[in-house]
Amino acid sequence: MTDLIEPDALLFNPFMPGFFEDPYPQYKMLRDEDPVQNHPLGFWFVSRFDDVSALLKAGLSVEVGNLAPGVMMDQLDSLGIEDGKHGVLNMSMLDRDPPDHTRLRSLVTKVFTRRAVAALEPKIVALVDAVLDRMAEKGSFDLVEELAFPLPFAVISEMLGMPPTDHARIRELSGTLVRSLEVVTDEEVARAIVNADIELAAITRDLIEWKRANPGDDLLTALIAAEHEGQVLNGDELVAQVVLLYVAGHETTVNLIANGVNALLRNPDQLALLRERPDLAGNAVEEFLRYDSPVQQTRRITTAPYTLRDKEIPAGTFVLACLGSANRDERFFGADAGELRIDRPEARHQVSFGAGPHHCLGAALARLEGQVAVSRLVQRFPDLAFDGQLEWNGRINLRGPAKFPVRAT
Ligand code: HEM
Repeated sequence: MTDLIEPDALLFNPFMPGFFEDPYPQYKMLRDEDPVQNHPLGFWFVSRFDDVSALLKAGLSVEVGNLAPGVMMDQLDSLGIEDGKHGVLNMSMLDRDPPDHTRLRSLVTKVFTRRAVAALEPKIVALVDAVLDRMAEKGSFDLVEELAFPLPFAVISEMLGMPPTDHARIRELSGTLVRSLEVVTDEEVARAIVNADIELAAITRDLIEWKRANPGDDLLTALIAAEHEGQVLNGDELVAQVVLLYVAGHETTVNLIANGVNALLRNPDQLALLRERPDLAGNAVEEFLRYDSPVQQTRRITTAPYTLRDKEIPAGTFVLACLGSANRDERFFGADAGELRIDRPEARHQVSFGAGPHHCLGAALARLEGQVAVSRLVQRFPDLAFDGQLEWNGRINLRGPAKFPVRAT
């Protein structure tokens, strides 16, 4: 993308220096100057709160298929991927329109209930406290490695009833797979995504087989049972929904926790306020989601001409809705939208979980994990501080730190 865009052009360009550290100045410029941008690379970029909300609620298509900008996934057929092996990318509910979306989502909603999430609270508290005990012993540690990643990973594994398996490999594969949520311009990256999809699907097929023989009181057993009862899932659809839950269950919440703690450490008055007022933990999580959104973008395809402001987006167009920018829109959140304020009442209107028919199914779980992890961490370690340089993960969409050294006693 870099070669194709004038560096000083007023265009969405994640390859501008400094973007990964702080994309928000670029978003602000786009909101002010060109909020519904017809990008020369063939997609549209929408950056204001009202437009993003309207777009997501409009029920546009999510069947991105070959319209995704960048390297086209179908070109990869010619890249030597072995016959007979296949992945499940684009088969999850996230990438399906009605009636498939309705069918798949209602099946998962049946087992992924509020009650199932609420019942997990004692386990989440115990997991967090065990991690904090280890952190206290160490004194200095990496927040992502010790807490932000392992917590959601353990929780979703537990919910699904996954057997002990090669977690390191799954983590690596998930990390590659989520690059499919970004504009991919590099053929090597595209090939790695396809291979990760194939391998993760194969691992998941094995896990499902294992679960058929070892049923338990868990989501995966319930999904398998639902499949048998209603014949509502076919072929690899079960595999695809499990991969989605597994990946969405940890690749996002890690950023909620880490971005939230980063925001607090950079705003000591807000950190002090949260310590003084633990009752603000729920609102603080909404503000973390708004202030530095764990998922920065989502995408839609127009199936008919769609009008936003004074622009008509033609049918069959790929549109990026920038959640991270919408959440910083001064027009909605006020002149201080760029500041962290954990008691901001409007924070709960953030669009970090999307909106409309694809609104995040795991929002309640993510909120619970975020609240327990961040509030217990800051209460436990009154002198929590950076212990070196935070490094960003260099992702355009699932933005968060890769390295986050901190110390505490
Ligand atoms: C969908 C964000 C955690 C499961 C989504 C979407 C977003 C999102 C933006 C797509 C919305 C759209 O395109 O309209 C987040 C964030 C999280 C998080 C920011 C953490 C802070 C989770 C967790 C789970 C989960 C923990 C499950 C364990 C899902 C599923 C969908 C989804 C299944 C697809 C819903 C559909 O297509 O109908 N999430 N998510 N998410 N999320 Fe999450």
